Amino acid sequence: MASEGGAGTEPSGRRELARRRIWNGWIAICATTAAVTVPAAFVLDLPSTTRIALELIFTVMFGVDALVTWRARDFASDSLLIPGLSRVSQLVVDLLAAAPFELLAGGSLLQILRVLKLQRVAQLFRLWRLNEIRRTAVLRLVFFLYWMALLTHWLACGWIALRGPAPDPGNFHRYVAGLYWCVTTLSTVGYGDVTPENDAQRLYAMATMMLGVGVYGFIIGNVATILAHIDPGRVNRLHRMEQLSTFMAYRNIPPALRDRIGAYYRHLWQRRLDHDETEILGRLPPGLRTDVTLFLKRDLLQAVPMFREAGDGFLREIALEMKPVVFMPGDHVIWAGDHGREMYFISRGTVDVLSPEDGVTVLNRLGQGDFFGEMALLENAPRGASVRAVDYCDLYRLDAHLFERILAAHPTVAAEIRAQAQARRSMRQD
Ligand code: CMP
Repeated sequence: MASEGGAGTEPSGRRELARRRIWNGWIAICATTAAVTVPAAFVLDLPSTTRIALELIFTVMFGVDALVTWRARDFASDSLLIPGLSRVSQLVVDLLAAAPFELLAGGSLLQILRVLKLQRVAQLFRLWRLNEIRRTAVLRLVFFLYWMALLTHWLACGWIALRGPAPDPGNFHRYVAGLYWCVTTLSTVGYGDVTPENDAQRLYAMATMMLGVGVYGFIIGNVATILAHIDPGRVNRLHRMEQLSTFMAYRNIPPALRDRIGAYYRHLWQRRLDHDETEILGRLPPGLRTDVTLFLKRDLLQAVPMFREAGDGFLREIALEMKPVVFMPGDHVIWAGDHGREMYFISRGTVDVLSPEDGVTVLNRLGQGDFFGEMALLENAPRGASVRAVDYCDLYRLDAHLFERILAAHPTVAAEIRAQAQARRSMRQD
């Protein structure tokens, strides 16, 4: 029942998946309640009606769950906590957790077997971590806190049991006192105001302290890693920032250039352009890679009128081939007279096309959805004008050989680019 990967994406499959999730969530809540109440019932005076009600609920729920798990079609090995645990062993574990030992053998330690149902919680946590790819570090932290809270509760119950009947009245006070001792001992603070009074208590306190040291070490060792994983982008950015400032100091970069470098990186981070997507996309299968790329470049693909009319095949091809580049205000994207190896599409920002004669007169201003740099590629001639960024420009670059291939394969797009180039040429000649 714990497996959540088997159901398809059809509506009935989705409904089945939703039903499983709700059931698994409910069983996890019951298992957690059992893990809290069963040890507590040993050391605190719970009313018998509460005990019997809980016993019935756990028995029925865990019994149904044992049956459902036994009958599940996709009792796959990946749904198991312990690899190799057979269907029969799983049934035995489930039945032991479901057995009403409180009613059958009241007061016996066998009742503790209910806690075996936590195996289902561990399975669910494992599946959740496998399926959830967005917040794995946060989940790790939450699961750790969950197990820590249960451990603290069990140790507190153990301490209350060892202390024996106390003169202080009420369950609540006894429990809070036990929890207080447990937290101070586990956290290795140990105020010393509650001290063990006999050998059994001393041994228990020693074991708890040693456990506390281990847990404490684990927390110290892991918190930094967990925090780093919560926002790896930020950590990467800080790391790169440090590298950059070391480099600038070491190479004595002048303040004006430093400011420009800083402004460039701020722009990249604001626009989330600072990570190399090609590597991440490269790990995806081709079909998925194309769909993700189309999604990432949707702003440009929607902004360029000629792309909107071109077919899906063209969009896929061009989306995969175009590479994002950023230019800062005042930067030259193209210098007149240079050899042309690529053309550009404007995703965001504005550029000025400057006269090749004086390099200052603005011939034209191009904005979002426009393209430039096509003339040198079409005519196999040097760049006919300079192009300068007016503000921050997010462009997509298309290399010459891909440009030629795409033109050959898509004649309508080729005709449009040629017509645009012709119009610009005649504008320059006027
Ligand atoms: P290319 O000659 O490769 O490099 C400079 C680019 O500026 C050129 O291609 C055209 O894309 C673009 N360009 C040239 N003249 C004009 C114009 N009058 N209007 C708009 N764009 C132009």
